[in-house]
Amino acid sequence: MAGTRTLTIIKPDAFAAGKTGKIIAHLEGAGFKLRAARVLHLTQAQAEAFYAVHRERPFFASLTRFMTSGTCMPMVLERPDAVSTLRSVIGATDPAEAAAGTVRKLYAESKERNAIHASDSDENADREAAFFFAEADRI
Ligand code: CMP
Repeated sequence: MAGTRTLTIIKPDAFAAGKTGKIIAHLEGAGFKLRAARVLHLTQAQAEAFYAVHRERPFFASLTRFMTSGTCMPMVLERPDAVSTLRSVIGATDPAEAAAGTVRKLYAESKERNAIHASDSDENADREAAFFFAEADRI
C-alpha cells in the first residue's frame, strides 16, 4: 500500500509573494494534515544536496540559485496515498501545462519558479523528510 506521508516545500517565489497561507489552506482542503514544518533559507550546500539527483541536468545551477534566493518552507504532510495525491494536487512542473485549480496553475510563475516541490516516490518522501526533520520533530 502506498505511504501516508510526503514532503513538500513552499519555494522562495511563493513564500516571498505571500502565498504561503493560501497554499497551506489549499493542501488542507485536499485532506492533508501538517505533521512538521520549518521556515528556513537554504544554503548552497543544502540545495545541492537536496537536488543531487538533478546534478547533471542543465538547469541544476539555476535551480539551486533559485532555491537559495530566499526563504522557503519544508513541510511533512499526511493523508492516504500522500505522494500521488500531492503530485496531482500541485499539478505539472510547468504551470503552463498544469491543470486548472492545481497549486502550480494558481500560484507558480514558471517551470523553475514553480511555487512548490513534492516528493516523487515513497522512498524519496522518507529521504526528503529526513533531510529537513529529525524524527523527534515529526508528529
Ligand atoms: P521540483 O518538483 O522541485 O523538482 C525539480 C525541480 O527542477 C522542479 O521542481 C523545477 O523547479 C525544476 N525544473 C525541472 N525541469 C526544469 C527545466 N526544464 N527548467 C528549469 N527548471 C526545471
